[in-house]
Amino acid sequence: MNCTAASFPFPASSREVHILKRGERLLEPDVYRTVVDGTPAVVKDYRRYRGTPLSLVARLLVRREARVLEQLKGWKHAPALLDTMGGLALGMEFIPGSTLSAGVQVGQEVFDQLQGALLRLHAAGITHNDLNGTNVVVSAGVPVLLDFTSAWRSPRWLRNGPIARQLRRSDMKNLVKMRARLTGQPPSPELAQMLAEPGWVRTIRSAWKQLYRRIKRDA
Ligand SMILES: Nc1ncnc2c1ncn2[C@@H]1O[C@H](COP(=O)(O)OP(=O)(O)OP(=O)(O)O)[C@@H](O)[C@H]1O
Ligand SMILES: [Mg+2]
Repeated sequence: MNCTAASFPFPASSREVHILKRGERLLEPDVYRTVVDGTPAVVKDYRRYRGTPLSLVARLLVRREARVLEQLKGWKHAPALLDTMGGLALGMEFIPGSTLSAGVQVGQEVFDQLQGALLRLHAAGITHNDLNGTNVVVSAGVPVLLDFTSAWRSPRWLRNGPIARQLRRSDMKNLVKMRARLTGQPPSPELAQMLAEPGWVRTIRSAWKQLYRRIKRDA
């Protein structure tokens, strides 16, 4: 769908808008469905931060998500980017279907596709970092990834570093958890072993937990 900055219309009234999620917490966008040139679209809207210091962060979030969608242009597992009107809102293609969090019945086939999609995403140097049922829509049997706000694009030289590897592992772990919850299929022993956290991650995690408990106790 072609839609230029000049033509991308913000809905003039609430009658033109179907709210999908209201931004209530800090830096959460209002997410709504609307119609652009007769075609359904979704807008993630941070305009309530206009004129505040947080608008800089909101602009950064919009720009980061837009860049990922731009990189994934033409891929069936991500919505097409429409526009970043004024920098504080992101317009994208509306994907009809149900999210995996909506209790939809899905088979192994969908998860096989999702796993393939995730591997492709990772091969392109991108990790999603917020993979959960609300961020996957199944549309005519095809899983589509949403919400790339937390996604990270690693430069080529960093892709094999420990942090990038850990982020990829964490994406895959989230997928395996969703698959087990929705289809009852546990990961194969090889996959489970591949996803086991390395020692340094366990050490950092348990040190952080201890510190957190101590801070809470002393507070
Ligand atoms: N392109 C889309 N097509 C269909 N539904 C969408 C689309 N984008 C978002 N949604 C719906 O809106 C919900 C909220 O969107 P999204 O997950 O992007 O926002 P969010 O979780 O508030 O944002 P963030 O976590 O980035 O702050 C999704 O769970 C999904 O149900
Ligand atoms: Mg989300």
